[in-house]
Amino acid sequence: MSESFVVTVEPLGRQVVYRGDQTILDACLRAGVWLPHSCTHGTCATCKSEVLDGDVDHSDASSFALMDFERDEGKLLTCCATPRSDVTIEAEIDIDEDIEMAPVEDYLGTLVEKSEIAKDTLRLMVELVRDIAFNAGQYMKFTVPASQSGAAVDRTWSIGSPPADSRRLEFHVRMVPGGRGTAGWVFDGLAVGDTFSMSGPYGRFVLHTGEDNHTIMVAGGTGLAPIKAMLRHGLKHAAYGGEMSLYQGGRSREWLDDVDYFTALAREFEQFTYRPCLSEETAEEVAADGGDPTAYAYGMVTDVIAADHASLSGCKGYLCGPPLMVEAALKTLMSKRLFPRDIYREEFFNAGDKAAGLNSPLIKR
Ligand SMILES: Cc1cc2nc3c(=O)[nH]c(=O)nc-3n(C[C@H](O)[C@H](O)[C@H](O)COP(=O)(O)OP(=O)(O)OC[C@H]3O[C@@H](n4cnc5c(N)ncnc54)[C@H](O)[C@@H]3O)c2cc1C
Ligand code: FES
Repeated sequence: MSESFVVTVEPLGRQVVYRGDQTILDACLRAGVWLPHSCTHGTCATCKSEVLDGDVDHSDASSFALMDFERDEGKLLTCCATPRSDVTIEAEIDIDEDIEMAPVEDYLGTLVEKSEIAKDTLRLMVELVRDIAFNAGQYMKFTVPASQSGAAVDRTWSIGSPPADSRRLEFHVRMVPGGRGTAGWVFDGLAVGDTFSMSGPYGRFVLHTGEDNHTIMVAGGTGLAPIKAMLRHGLKHAAYGGEMSLYQGGRSREWLDDVDYFTALAREFEQFTYRPCLSEETAEEVAADGGDPTAYAYGMVTDVIAADHASLSGCKGYLCGPPLMVEAALKTLMSKRLFPRDIYREEFFNAGDKAAGLNSPLIKR
């Protein structure tokens, strides 16, 4: 029988009864007690908190995200730790009062569509058996079934559809060679009609709809998915008041997904500007095979942003994608006079990043 402990969360003074094999973070999110988190696998350190009383097991927290001296000082990563007794923790609760976060719950999903949308990138459309509440930009945890490669594991993929579509969720998944969830399941085995377990919604990378600042959105690879959800929600459902600009980076056209969709969106909404950026393809090469060279910007996404804006003072930034791209974009936005507090971001850390100790540029955030 699994053990049961009480987790007290300060400064909220909320108590959660912990049972079984969840992490402290999961137990709290499922009980409707919001705690800060981002990667949920012990890599980014966003969930770092303090143990005020009691004992915890740190499980597989990366030794880069939670160093030995921090463990000695009583720090923990709530996304990895489990209680060994009743515990009291103190977390930095950073959520915007205007944003309601739905509790994490379990869902059953059925794959209803699987299509290639860019090189090595699939769009998955998943039908749920019941409605889910989430904020634009959040993500789900999929249970990748046990296979010859090992026991079942969790993998996180961001929702690309708006909260208004509460039963049919869109995901963009890019192949990672050697990856359990992508190469070993989504790209090899998962078929339309298959049913699987997932839980969510997770994450704090969400569109702040109460604002009307000019939003500069920067997406690399499948980092486009949560930004697509934000744009669809902001423009079509939440009547976001400010300008919205999307900078989407890719090496060449074959790596950019949904270009036609965003081009049409920019035609429909005057407040939305779309800048697809090609870092390894030239205007001449686009023209040579019949493409429209004026449809793209050329260079790294960060260089294009720097050339487009003398100052970004007063704007808000939303950055999502591979950690190195997010770090570069963060530096660019800061050099254009945006404060870190005005830049929301999500790094798509994977298991390799965790093993390599790749971490957030502004740890602890
Ligand atoms: C908040 C968040 C949202 C995300 N959203 C998306 C999304 O919308 N779309 C998307 O495509 N991805 C997204 N990701 C990334 C995603 O969660 C997975 O990390 C990614 O899909 C790879 O999963 P995988 O199981 O195929 O690879 P993994 O099995 O995790 O392996 C990843 C790489 O690490 C290597 N590796 C694995 N274990 C080790 C080890 N112990 N030591 C060294 N190397 C190792 C593997 O060989 C492989 O190259 C998101 C990540 C986060 C944190
Ligand atoms: S959310 Fe815990 S380390 Fe990233």
